[in-house]
Amino acid sequence: MDKIAIIGAGKLGCAIADGLLESGLHPTDLSLSRRNTKALKKYADNGTLVTTINSDAIEKTSIIILCVKPQKTKEVLTQLTPQLTDQIIISTVTGIELSDLKVILKKELPLFRAMPNTAAAIKQSMTCISTIDSNENQQKQVETIFKNLGETVFIDDDLMASATVLAASGIAFALRYLRASMQGGIEIGFSSELSQKIAAQTLKGAAELILQHGNHPESEIDKVTTPQGITITGLNKMEQEGFSSSIIQGIVASKNKIDNL
Ligand SMILES: NC(=O)c1ccc[n+]([C@@H]2O[C@H](COP(=O)([O-])OP(=O)(O)OC[C@H]3O[C@@H](n4cnc5c(N)ncnc54)[C@H](OP(=O)(O)O)[C@@H]3O)[C@@H](O)[C@H]2O)c1
Repeated sequence: MDKIAIIGAGKLGCAIADGLLESGLHPTDLSLSRRNTKALKKYADNGTLVTTINSDAIEKTSIIILCVKPQKTKEVLTQLTPQLTDQIIISTVTGIELSDLKVILKKELPLFRAMPNTAAAIKQSMTCISTIDSNENQQKQVETIFKNLGETVFIDDDLMASATVLAASGIAFALRYLRASMQGGIEIGFSSELSQKIAAQTLKGAAELILQHGNHPESEIDKVTTPQGITITGLNKMEQEGFSSSIIQGIVASKNKIDNL
């Protein structure tokens, strides 16, 4: 694998670093930077270059992954620009489009945006990736990096805000469903711990059924709804209370919010 630098090795940067190291990247082929490096000791102990100086971190690297907060992006990229020739730049920064990055960099480089979600910590992220000025080989390299953290899809950059809502905020939406299921489970007799386990594994199983079979959710729902049965009674009550509608409206409200930031 090529040498990789992660600039802004915080929560997401370290999750990416862990995925890369576990998938066989040699520690000396990785460099990490942030201003306070105390939390990066375990990487330094294994031979990874850990530094507070971003320009040192990107020396001799061909892939740079930017994981700083949005408000730091311009300052950090501007500082690195003189050293950039043909490196692949991957920004994980929320809300900064590829066209904005190109304006900041003032040069043509293979540019990528990647939007993972917090399930990257357990290698179950859904990472949406967009790109400009890159070739197929570079796209494969970037895809491989994020495959270490879960699933990946390439999308148009103008869908990145929607990806942020559906995949990154989507974790919170799914967990609210889980919390509600747990509360229902407690009401019908389970302890909190048991209710959490049963509801979480059921949610995971439902998602796996769709991912592994590729069926529409309704066809799996049909398999558990008998006429005049228990499941359809519960489903119809949920819909009467606005279940699907509230989820769709919530997703649209989040998208409106991100569009107006
Ligand atoms: N967490 C996620 O799941 C997730 C998902 C999708 C996208 N994102 C995006 O990823 C970015 C990082 O998010 P995060 O949750 O990982 O935040 P985070 O934990 O705060 O990480 C950001 C890191 O940047 C470092 N930093 C600040 N200024 C710096 C500078 N001048 N040079 C080098 N490093 C600097 C900070 O450390 P010091 O203060 O020690 O420098 C911090 O460790 C954000 O833009 C976020 O929108 C995150």
